[in-house]
Amino acid sequence: MEQYVIKGGTPLVGEVTIAGAKNAALGILAAAVMTDKECIIENVPNVRDTRVLLQAIKEIGATVKYIDEHTVSICGGTIRNIDTLCVDDEFIRKIRASYYLLGALLGKYKRSQVALPGGCDIGSRPIDLHIKGFEALGAHVTVGKGMVTATADRLVGKHVYLDKISVGATINIMMAAVFAEGKTTIENAAKEPHIVDVANFLNSMGANIKGAGTNEIRIRGVKELKGTEYSIIPDQIEAGTFMMAAAATDGNVLIKNVIPKHLEAISSKLTEIGATVEEYDDSVRVIGCHGKRLRPTQIITQPYPGFPTDMQPQMAVTLGLSDGTSVISENIFENRFKYTDELARMGARIKVEGNMAIISGVESYSGATVVAPDLRAGAALVIAGLAAEGFTVIEDIKYIQRGYEKFEEKLRDLGGQIEIVETEKEIIKFKLKVG
Ligand code: UD1
Repeated sequence: MEQYVIKGGTPLVGEVTIAGAKNAALGILAAAVMTDKECIIENVPNVRDTRVLLQAIKEIGATVKYIDEHTVSICGGTIRNIDTLCVDDEFIRKIRASYYLLGALLGKYKRSQVALPGGCDIGSRPIDLHIKGFEALGAHVTVGKGMVTATADRLVGKHVYLDKISVGATINIMMAAVFAEGKTTIENAAKEPHIVDVANFLNSMGANIKGAGTNEIRIRGVKELKGTEYSIIPDQIEAGTFMMAAAATDGNVLIKNVIPKHLEAISSKLTEIGATVEEYDDSVRVIGCHGKRLRPTQIITQPYPGFPTDMQPQMAVTLGLSDGTSVISENIFENRFKYTDELARMGARIKVEGNMAIISGVESYSGATVVAPDLRAGAALVIAGLAAEGFTVIEDIKYIQRGYEKFEEKLRDLGGQIEIVETEKEIIKFKLKVG
């Protein structure tokens, strides 16, 4: 089993280039099968989640070709046997975004069957809102034996109100509505940058979607979509992770290929706690506190443009080194503090009460062997390891590899002492090498 071994204590310094947004890619790759023509998608992050989804798209008969490491050609015109189409394999159940094929295939073929989504274990992750939206458009949806099946004679545009803001439901309903007759309105829609990106992609294929990025999205049904060429936006969360790593290690990192506006919630919190954030057109520089301790603060996770739940663990690790007590309220997923026990093993002082974590800052972390409980918490533990005194071993890095491309290479380029190892012998070799 692959593990990370890290020797902490070196400030990260240098430049890093951010990959395409994983969560946008997952929606866009699924949406690409909605046309029979070829779509060429650039800036696809080469991470486990996108590879798994592409494999699933291939298995239902679409033609998938890698033009280069980050450019993929997808042609949904080769999908056959529509009546028996079923998206299920041992991998697809592991990624949450498999559900995007539900909306995409339902929209295109009026029939879809997809294995119930998995993903990170960060709390109950129902799909009732997705189902409610499909049903409003006229689909009949059943759930059983681990599968979701949606069928419709025809889809007709409707007004859909989401009781709770959901990124996945917004994208899924938007995709299904692209071919629905008449006008669909999604009210209380999520506003995340990747929702806008999926809408822009669909519009570039000939869809008629307006209002993406606001809380009301309006979709006029069209008869067919054409092929397109499209480049995915940069990953807000990967960028945020490097921003936190720079602050937590008291470093100085220029984070390139970002959209600074998408990072505002993160930049403003980093500035508040004493780090310096310089914004440029398509990059941000984060500088630590020059040997001083960061300041504590309060964080409430909220849908965009609020502070993202996907940055909550990385922020907690950074605040764990601040000079005082911070409070984090997790308002999106109820089970997102599982990493705090691992962080405590590195010397953090964190108490979890319900959806709140109370963090009493310590001067430094000390290296330990810890287990990555999920994708973002795993990345947060890497940051802790980079900031810690001594050696840290992180197990179960397969979660981290779901969403970060060449994470260890990018960190090494910034001076981080981190390697992937598989055996105790390799850990010893690393320790001897870095001293
Ligand atoms: C997406 C992101 C994930 C991020 C999350 C919140 C992708 C592939 N994943 O996940 O990285 O952490 O947004 O920003 O883009 N809910 C329901 N019923 C539903 C759907 C959701 O009650 O049918 C609830 C969830 O339990 C959660 C909240 O709504 O409490 C928000 O979830 P949602 O925005 O749907 O998250 P995902 O789309 O799964």
